[in-house]
Amino acid sequence: MFVKNAWYVAASWDEVSRKPLGRVLLGEPVVLYRKEDGTAMALEDRCCHRRAPLHRGEVIGDALQCGYHGFTFDETGACIKIPGMTTPPKTAKIKSYRVVERHKWIWIWMGSAAPGMGEATPDESMIPDFHQNDHPKWASARGYIPLAANYLLYVDNLLDLSHVGFVHRDVIGSDDADAELKFERHESVVQGVRQSPDMAPPPLYKKLGIGETVRQKKIMTFTPASHIAIDITTSEVLAGGKVGREAHIFVLNSITPERENTCHYFWASARDFDTANEQMTELVHRETLRAFIQDKDMVEAQQKVIDLDPEAAIVSVRADSGGLLARRVVADALQKESAGASISN
Ligand code: FES
Ligand SMILES: [Fe+2]
Repeated sequence: MFVKNAWYVAASWDEVSRKPLGRVLLGEPVVLYRKEDGTAMALEDRCCHRRAPLHRGEVIGDALQCGYHGFTFDETGACIKIPGMTTPPKTAKIKSYRVVERHKWIWIWMGSAAPGMGEATPDESMIPDFHQNDHPKWASARGYIPLAANYLLYVDNLLDLSHVGFVHRDVIGSDDADAELKFERHESVVQGVRQSPDMAPPPLYKKLGIGETVRQKKIMTFTPASHIAIDITTSEVLAGGKVGREAHIFVLNSITPERENTCHYFWASARDFDTANEQMTELVHRETLRAFIQDKDMVEAQQKVIDLDPEAAIVSVRADSGGLLARRVVADALQKESAGASISN
């Protein structure tokens, strides 16, 4: 079960073109393409004739033609042409989804595709502010990783950064096990601050040339259903404990469930220093991707063990508080949606 009345990232802006892209989101087949004027569209990726995937068809003008027998659908999902018929039946239609292109990602509202759920209005202000991904003051490196794990395991991962010193020891790992940590929930937003002691710079920061001793402050912000921004300030510590240069990196993460135990991971790492240095952007991209593949290996292995006995006991500690709060936000949203569904049924 997934939260439907929420914005999710369906694709990176550069994945969507005049060639249809098929993707399963929250267990639903979705096809994305661009209209002639460049606007991104999303329709059900299931032809209402014989359920062929429409992404195997062709975009003609602003419409999508099924590659099997030629049924053609407009942007609202209505069938406007059936070969050999003058007028398509009114029942010939598929779902259409609300889509917004923002911050280099294509956001989709999945709520309208849930019959009986009660109408929730897609509110664009609920899209998280990930402007660092396409703002001239920031240099952004970004990517997409498919993951064979439940999306909430990844939410846990990104909110419990105590794993960084273990999983990413050789990339972004730091000796910050004693970091101060505090999480709070404000309505549906969960925010945490992790303040490290003074320490040697993590390997990536060493390569970026940020001091011999540093301290790091990480502010993690979770917004539903599964978006996490990590605002990392790394400060150079000078003799006498004075603070020297500061470098900011925003790690933007959005995890969209594909099926129960698979998901789509969209990430970006944006920095505010030396932004014109393309070699540095390449370095940040390469090293961040390396770290996220380490996460993928660990979380997918974790999912395999969980699958053996999903009810096996676990122990939660202070470091888990962010993930637990985020799971409560998701559970509350699910409960609200199921209450809305029973009222509207
Ligand atoms: S399955 Fe699409 S036209 Fe027949
Ligand atoms: Fe990680």
